[in-house]
Amino acid sequence: MKAVLLDRVTKGEDIVLTEVPVPEVKPGWVLVKVKAFGMNHSEKILRLGEIEAGYIQKPIIPGIECVGEIADPSDSGFAKGQKVAALMGGMGRSFHGSYAEYALLPARHVFSIRSELSWDQLAAIPETCFTAWGSLFDGLGLRADDTLLIRGGTCALGYAAIQIAKALGCRVIATTHREKKLPLLAEADQAVLDNGQLAGTLSGVTKVLELVGAKTLYDSLHCTEKGGIVCCTGILGGVSALNRFDPIKEIPNGVFLTSFHSNWPTQEVMDKIFSFLGQHGIRPRVGAQYYFAHIREACTAQDHGEADGKIVVTVSASERKEQGS
Ligand SMILES: NC(=O)c1ccc[n+]([C@@H]2O[C@H](COP(=O)([O-])OP(=O)(O)OC[C@H]3O[C@@H](n4cnc5c(N)ncnc54)[C@H](OP(=O)(O)O)[C@@H]3O)[C@@H](O)[C@H]2O)c1
Repeated sequence: MKAVLLDRVTKGEDIVLTEVPVPEVKPGWVLVKVKAFGMNHSEKILRLGEIEAGYIQKPIIPGIECVGEIADPSDSGFAKGQKVAALMGGMGRSFHGSYAEYALLPARHVFSIRSELSWDQLAAIPETCFTAWGSLFDGLGLRADDTLLIRGGTCALGYAAIQIAKALGCRVIATTHREKKLPLLAEADQAVLDNGQLAGTLSGVTKVLELVGAKTLYDSLHCTEKGGIVCCTGILGGVSALNRFDPIKEIPNGVFLTSFHSNWPTQEVMDKIFSFLGQHGIRPRVGAQYYFAHIREACTAQDHGEADGKIVVTVSASERKEQGS
């Protein structure tokens, strides 16, 4: 099968497809025929630096999520040909991921999906919507009467969070650090140019989804009303840890700080997400679609931040015809 195999720091323009054996199933793992996969900011982080860390298996096929069909169910309860989504649990880091025609994946990280969306559209959902869902509901306990600030709104996760929060009935304020991208936040009630210092400029913010990360976290805490919650989920700003964090000084009285890590998806939550998206007619925002043969162009576009929405890669060129899209 064809796959992307990384063993060192690799820019998008240097990506190549390699011929590798189709993996053999083993107990507890299933073989998935990858139909399409979404690309994630964390895969760019892996390719451009994290690959050198000792905890990354090398060489590694990257890709933390995919959608496809069960090619071999092994000892799982899945049926051959069943439509599934898979994500996280070490995928593309501790074991081979989805930038391949087939992926051998732990059955507990593979989930049945029932949806009429095309593979391209489906590929934009698993990791992005699971993380948006977990951050908004587990992290922030989001309710219709909340005013939600999404800091770093112009990423796939930000767009998904806007869609979900608007469907719930919230007032949504979303930020971008690029003035030219303000129109991309039109689905929010208010689009704000983020200069890193928003405290004191916004009113009524009860919940914050922090996607820029530690770089703006202190400021986000000070944007939040008493009783409000800040969920730190992203690291778009490139700073992952807080230096000399003094909680007494930095967390305002009565404001709560939490985070969300998408490593533990469940079938129950995936079902809730697909049901919510279906009920509200939400289509994920696909920023660009590539065929697997053009994975180099997809990774290059990712490196240069060229897609306004999720980048999805269709692994078999026939898929778009099969889906009638
Ligand atoms: N905690 C978790 O489990 C979890 C799960 C999934 C994702 N995440 C995190 O969530 C964030 C979004 O992920 P994603 O995959 O949705 O991203 P993505 O779609 O790959 O989006 C990346 C884009 O975000 C834009 N961006 C917006 N604000 C930015 C800022 N302040 N600084 C730099 N870039 C900014 C950049 O474009 P412009 O600069 O042109 O605006 C960049 O091209 C990432 O930090 C990712 O690591 C966390």
